[in-house]
Amino acid sequence: MTAAVVTGVGGWVPPRVVTNAEVAARLDTTEEWIATRTGVRTRHWVEPGTSTVDMAVMAGERALKSAGVTEVGAVVLATTTPDRLCPASAPEVAARLGLGPVAAFDVGAVCAGFVYALAVSAGLIGARVAESVLVIGADTFSSILDPTDRGTAMIFGDGAGAFVLRAGDCAELGALGPFDLGSDGELADLIMIPGGGSRDPAPETSDRYFAMQGKATFQHAVRRMATSSQAVLEARGWRADDVDWLVGHQANRRILDALADAVDLPRERLISNIDRVGNTSAASIPLAIADALAPDPTSSGGPLAPGDNVLLTAFGGGLAWGSTALRWPAVGQA
Ligand code: UT7
Repeated sequence: MTAAVVTGVGGWVPPRVVTNAEVAARLDTTEEWIATRTGVRTRHWVEPGTSTVDMAVMAGERALKSAGVTEVGAVVLATTTPDRLCPASAPEVAARLGLGPVAAFDVGAVCAGFVYALAVSAGLIGARVAESVLVIGADTFSSILDPTDRGTAMIFGDGAGAFVLRAGDCAELGALGPFDLGSDGELADLIMIPGGGSRDPAPETSDRYFAMQGKATFQHAVRRMATSSQAVLEARGWRADDVDWLVGHQANRRILDALADAVDLPRERLISNIDRVGNTSAASIPLAIADALAPDPTSSGGPLAPGDNVLLTAFGGGLAWGSTALRWPAVGQA
């Protein structure tokens, strides 16, 4: 079967840096609590006027440049914060990037969105619907955060990350797979925006905000990402020892540490940039990889080298989770 092969990577965060001191000045929390309980030290938030599409275009442009291409057969955008409820944001991203009348649509799986979008894109390539796909994860969580909620306002940041995939062979470096995807809608209420959808089209202001039951979510995040990672390891024929880098959804540094322990991997093999960018939802995995390719001196990740065995795993609202693996190709961030 034709495989989807990674040929380009790009990441972008808005310039405005929000420190823990700034967050702690507005909320009933402390800089130290945020740093020790989440691992986040700074996050980036957009200025008014900058949207998810704007960020997706920036990351997409970098990924296309990194791949050395100006055309793709489809654009798939994972996001929970589209510019508008209708239409999807991906067509606008495709148009702004000058990609012509290509297939373009959004995927909604909250923080697991990028892995779901990779799987859907690999399907488009495998079915020869598209020979190449620009896959983007982009979220503007600052637009849906309750500024008074100390359980969410300190973790989330804004950003976008992207991969370019092309049709190739499963034996090549960069070939994605296998995939493990799962969901549990019985627990939809752990992470949600209660109002603004068809169930409650004109909600109270407080119901327009993102809400999360942090403690229960934490436990599910570790368990689901560990089980899903193990399923991919088994299907790929790797043991934990074979994994050079684990790129987990950057939800909380303590979740990543617990995940590494659960899959029996030294914590040094985690790629993480949560200290710098916080939890950027669908953008978190490609942004962590983009940072590991061009490491910030303060970040604890990478660097990734061609041939490294990489495991990707994500978890988020839905609940939804997913994992995949690849041997890193000779690809850098533009
Ligand atoms: O991206 C999608 C998936 N998201 C996640 O996976 C996030 C999962 N959850 C988390 O990252 C963590 O649960 C949080 C960071 C949200 C909260 O951390 P926690 O260690 O689970 O805290 P907790 O909710 O168990 O609360 C512990 C204590 C409580 O005080 P008492 O009851 O022990 O007196 C809280 O009231 O910490 C208190 N607390 C805070 N204190 C200062 C909770 N939030 C804060 C805060 N500042 N921001």
